[in-house]
Amino acid sequence: MKKIYIIILSISVFLSWNEALAQRPRPTADLPKWEGVCETPQMGWSSWNKFMTDIDEEIIKANADALVNLGLADVGYVYVNVDDGWHGERDESGCVTENPDKFPSGMMELGKYIHSKGLKFGIYSDAGDFTCNGCTGSRGHEYQDALVYAMWEVDYVKYDWCHTSNLDAKGAYTLMRNAIRKAGRPMVFSICEWGTSKPWEWAGEVGHSWRTTHDIGPAFLEVPVSYTPEGRRNWKPQSVMEIIEQNAPLREYAGPGHWNDPDMLEVGNVITVDGITYSMTPSEERAHFTLWCMMAAPLILGNDLRDISEETLAIIKNRALIAVDQDPLGIQGLRLKKDGDLQYWFKPLKDGDWAFCVLNAGEEAAKLTLDWSALEVDDTFSGRKTDFAGTTYMAQDLWKAKAKPFSTSRKTKVTVPAHDVVAYRLTPVKH
Ligand code: GAL
Repeated sequence: MKKIYIIILSISVFLSWNEALAQRPRPTADLPKWEGVCETPQMGWSSWNKFMTDIDEEIIKANADALVNLGLADVGYVYVNVDDGWHGERDESGCVTENPDKFPSGMMELGKYIHSKGLKFGIYSDAGDFTCNGCTGSRGHEYQDALVYAMWEVDYVKYDWCHTSNLDAKGAYTLMRNAIRKAGRPMVFSICEWGTSKPWEWAGEVGHSWRTTHDIGPAFLEVPVSYTPEGRRNWKPQSVMEIIEQNAPLREYAGPGHWNDPDMLEVGNVITVDGITYSMTPSEERAHFTLWCMMAAPLILGNDLRDISEETLAIIKNRALIAVDQDPLGIQGLRLKKDGDLQYWFKPLKDGDWAFCVLNAGEEAAKLTLDWSALEVDDTFSGRKTDFAGTTYMAQDLWKAKAKPFSTSRKTKVTVPAHDVVAYRLTPVKH
């Protein structure tokens, strides 16, 4: 008899345990990322490079106004991205809120303002417990945060990687991708884990772009280093040339909807951090902008648009170069060769065109005679080939809109100033 009781008891314990298991909330199945929201590299402005955490709603609104008033929105810069420093505390139900001192009108109102200008609203968070600057992170609140962003009508989420000690990058970013999808509002998902876990190998289906490097600074070649009184190295950004070196070999991972992100633009930005002032010359800024376009990089401005020089504006508004970046084929350019301080780059464009540039990282101007037949490209990745031997291309200078196009049927003499570029769009002449 005792035995039968024990058997009946075990069966009922087993059944109710099974029932409990069946009722347990199940993890949501993977959901696809939003498609069609980033078919060409994203363009806009972000608060980080210039302001770091020193932001508030007036700064963001004034820069949004400037995007419109300076004609930058007209050439494609539409995202207004609020980077680190906006978070407040979580409320009693765990929902994320904004810092009330910096954003007294609230993020929802800010989003409305940005949208009223015909622009799009971007926000920043972090996969860890805290953001890089100690604000509230999204860990454990991913679905809740994505819902709040959707309620605020956010169009773009940049998701950072600080304070994530034992997290798996692919898992953490996939979780947020699912949460964004589930929240029901299309948003660009910009992965920012600095290339640490080689996101180019796994992030194509997770996000729309992934950082390939650590943070950029307004420095072309050499980055000055400073130390704390205790001898620890202070913040050390990467230079434009260092970043190019890291991003160039990754071209085969990029394409429409999934871009390598060599970090935001530093054109026109001057900052002082830890007593060091960082800036670039106009030549260096031209070279930086050209290479970002050749590499089909996101073009996210990082300067203060309320105080901008004509020279900076002319660089970032260069429509011919923006068209290279935004070309619908979405092929990241290739570096054909390096010759000392010189680099020769090609990017296949629509309708058989190519963008071509020579970058001079040296301290002296380079006087060159371009022998086009010696620059023939056979790009197995895109399946595109140049044909300088059999086809004539007309070359339009991408920095001198008024220059007369010249033909590649003859050798071309060019001077590439120090820390600068020459860049052309090559269009085959149809016979
Ligand atoms: C870094 C990120 C920067 C900026 C910063 C904010 O990790 O690479 O672009 O977002 O965090 O603290």
